[in-house]
Amino acid sequence: MSASSGQKLTFEGEELDYNTDRDIQYCIRGSDKKSSINSFSDPQLGLNGRLLHNISKAGLKKPTPVQRHGMPQLVAGLDVMCCSHTGSGKTAAYLLPIINSIVGDASASRSADKGSGSSSGKENTSGTNPTGLILTPTRELAMQISKDANMFGEGLPVSSFAVFGGQLLRYELGKLKEGRVDILVATPGRLLHLLSEFDVLTLGKIKYFVVDEADEMFDRGFFSGIRNIVDQFLIPKEERINALFSATFPNQIQYFAKKQLRSGFIFVVIGILGGASPDICQEILCASRAEKKMKLEKIVQDLEATEKKLLVFCNTIEKTVEIFNFLHQSDYKVSGIHSDLTQGERTQALKDFDSGQSTILIATSVAARGLNIRGIDLVLNYDLPKDINEYIQRIGRTGRVGVVGESISFFDEDTDEDLAKDLVDAITSGNQSVPTFLSEFCSGADDEEFESSEEALHFGMKKLKVKRCFEHFEEEDAF
Ligand SMILES: Nc1ncnc2c1ncn2[C@@H]1O[C@H](COP(=O)(O)OP(=O)(O)O)[C@@H](O)[C@H]1O
Ligand SMILES: [Mg+2]
Repeated sequence: MSASSGQKLTFEGEELDYNTDRDIQYCIRGSDKKSSINSFSDPQLGLNGRLLHNISKAGLKKPTPVQRHGMPQLVAGLDVMCCSHTGSGKTAAYLLPIINSIVGDASASRSADKGSGSSSGKENTSGTNPTGLILTPTRELAMQISKDANMFGEGLPVSSFAVFGGQLLRYELGKLKEGRVDILVATPGRLLHLLSEFDVLTLGKIKYFVVDEADEMFDRGFFSGIRNIVDQFLIPKEERINALFSATFPNQIQYFAKKQLRSGFIFVVIGILGGASPDICQEILCASRAEKKMKLEKIVQDLEATEKKLLVFCNTIEKTVEIFNFLHQSDYKVSGIHSDLTQGERTQALKDFDSGQSTILIATSVAARGLNIRGIDLVLNYDLPKDINEYIQRIGRTGRVGVVGESISFFDEDTDEDLAKDLVDAITSGNQSVPTFLSEFCSGADDEEFESSEEALHFGMKKLKVKRCFEHFEEEDAF
């Protein structure tokens, strides 16, 4: 594989991206599974003409693997658990079937109204009674999904709105009272608050229920909130279509899937289960605490001439502020995002980075998940996280669909030793070579699970690992 930032991936001399059909390995489980599609205009999907136009306008030429294999299941009304690496297009995989279904229902009800002589289309109730509910862990992601839904739904009778902590409650209540929201995107805490304290929202008509970034939801302790929403406010799961989307697939998610999805749900896995995206070059540099700033400066200087975008992760707010100040003093175009900032400041920081006003974004993990900031060329782990899933999510901010990204991580021997073995696994699963100093940390460790990177195909799924996962999946008391 040859790969450099910003270029298309090549494999054995041929350009490779998700718009081609080759080499992507996948696994679909479930006795009712539907066959996969190769184009958004496949009749099996039956997507509305205007929706197809919007998809093409958004630059989506061909479906990515998770869209090819996942969408037909949802369109057919089946529940799904979809696992696919970050940046693989999971959002559209669930939004398009939901939007299409809402548009179809709207036009069916218009025809019925015409037949019956009724004049109004939508029910004229006070408050919101949405058809689609999407739960997501962060406010930034909620805004993004809702924005995507409105973009795909442009010119169609479908509207999306996001509710999340940090947004003005009064604004949300006003919007919900108007009752014109078809797809509600929400963080669990704010949704529970709205449902329990106010009378502007009911979930009695939910036809599609999606939990996005399920692994992150679990890590943030949101599962009990989700359970409350499901148990107290949603119609029974048998009466709706349910989907879980996740980049990784730990045991807790498998358990959650069993509980929240209808039995017989379809399980779609793309690529290496829980592995790092193969579209990312992962580099690990040995750097002590004292050396980190110097090395950062060197990286920033190298990038400056190229106008490339850099996302830097620190583990604490204090460190984020310190690094922000350090670069700001040297007149770099830098912005910062962490949870001590107001929602307005965070949105502005993201906007600046998105528009190129700033080319460096310093962030705590709050920005790690789900954020779809366009065109990040390099992710730098100034501090490595303690957990490997967090690492995979962080580096997943680069290397978006079909375009190679790059990550550099500062490995501090004093603090990061515990992560060494998992890092080797992540690098190996992304088909990259492991630096010698890192292998030394893990010498003697059992690596029988991992095939050598020469042997493994690009995008090659480690069959052994997936098989193991399925075994777990079927163990009733594995949790
Ligand atoms: N079929 C496609 N072709 C090209 N780009 C796509 C396609 N589907 C999604 N994208 C783009 O890929 C990026 C990542 O998508 P996203 O849904 O955020 O990934 P995930 O949720 O899997 O991390 C977005 O910028 C999105 O617009
Ligand atoms: Mg996502």
